[in-house]
Amino acid sequence: MCASGNTSGASRRTAGSEVLVIGGGIIGLVTAWRAAQRGLTVTVADPAPGGGAAQVAAGMLAAVTELHYGEQMLLGLNLASAARYPAFVEELEEASGRETGFRACGTLAVALDSDDRAHLRELHALQERSGLESVWLSGRECRRLEPMLAPSVRGGLRVDGDHQVDPRRLAAALLAACERAGVAFRRTTAERLTVDGGRATGALLGDGTEFGADQVVLAAGSLSGRLAGLPPELVPPVRPVKGQVLRLTVPPAYAPFLSRTVRAVVRGGHLYLVPRENGELVVGATSEEMGWDTTVTAGGVYELLRDAHELVPGITELPLTETRAGLRPASPDNAPLLGPTALPGLLLATGHHRNGVLLTPVTGDAMADALTTGELPEAARPFAPGRFTTAAPVLQEQPV
Ligand code: GLY
Repeated sequence: MCASGNTSGASRRTAGSEVLVIGGGIIGLVTAWRAAQRGLTVTVADPAPGGGAAQVAAGMLAAVTELHYGEQMLLGLNLASAARYPAFVEELEEASGRETGFRACGTLAVALDSDDRAHLRELHALQERSGLESVWLSGRECRRLEPMLAPSVRGGLRVDGDHQVDPRRLAAALLAACERAGVAFRRTTAERLTVDGGRATGALLGDGTEFGADQVVLAAGSLSGRLAGLPPELVPPVRPVKGQVLRLTVPPAYAPFLSRTVRAVVRGGHLYLVPRENGELVVGATSEEMGWDTTVTAGGVYELLRDAHELVPGITELPLTETRAGLRPASPDNAPLLGPTALPGLLLATGHHRNGVLLTPVTGDAMADALTTGELPEAARPFAPGRFTTAAPVLQEQPV
């Protein structure tokens, strides 16, 4: 039985759903798919489901090579999700009839000069302290693995467990799996959360209708803080962090140009080259605090190509097929906000920042648990939204 939202203005009330997911990016879709698999009636509101940051992201599953100081708690969740990936893509590909482009290819993180090498040594030490597997290689050993690397490469870390997936194909597969699982789609925006009697009751949609739901999941990526009607203390502290990304094509005559993901820190910026089996080579990414701007700039493209050329000189021979910018949904501690909020009936699945693609499997499972039991699984509890509010989160009632 669905709660109905309080009507306001001239909105029309439509039939509701047990669960309304606001946002049809990969996080919203995996939540919807997993919830539908548990028998819930799910609707996703999004003008263009399957879009969002996944259309720009490179798809590195880089729990080990993207380890940062102070993010050890996040590391546990990242590793849990990375471990789920092979079974997750197998199940998703079976359920959707589509491939995801998952490649268990590993990653090589390299250093171009002595400063970079010192930085990489630090990362290696942090990885070892964290019990992670990575192997230090000389420059010569790096080039033996990846002959296109510049002769100036001074050393590197081979991380055999950091793989990749194609986020565009992942999004398409999740969309198809949702459709097959009976998830309904409202191809419009959600404008306002409706609240009645101290609980979330649905949303006012961009087409003027009011959609009632027992539970609302806010999974709108960097836009999550912009939904009207949220109690001010529960507005998720999520901000957009711009990333410019290039796509090049490796002609068959040049293949294999690179056999695994190659990354480096060049002039303080994170650079990565992600080679797909179909010849696409993704080069990313800038990290810019520019608000909602998604302009691709000459400077952004120049810096990426300049740094990529330093790392792999032959890259300038390749056709440049696409330039694009997306917005990472960043939270104050770079970790996601998952599960019930202090407002009964409202859950969050947002703030995944650099790790949205990696965290997709574990997010889907955690949100399905939260929607069906009212509680997050143990591994996801540190990521409850209540960590950013003074009030303790109030767990919602069990759905009827
Ligand atoms: N995880 C890669 C990025 O955010 O650029």
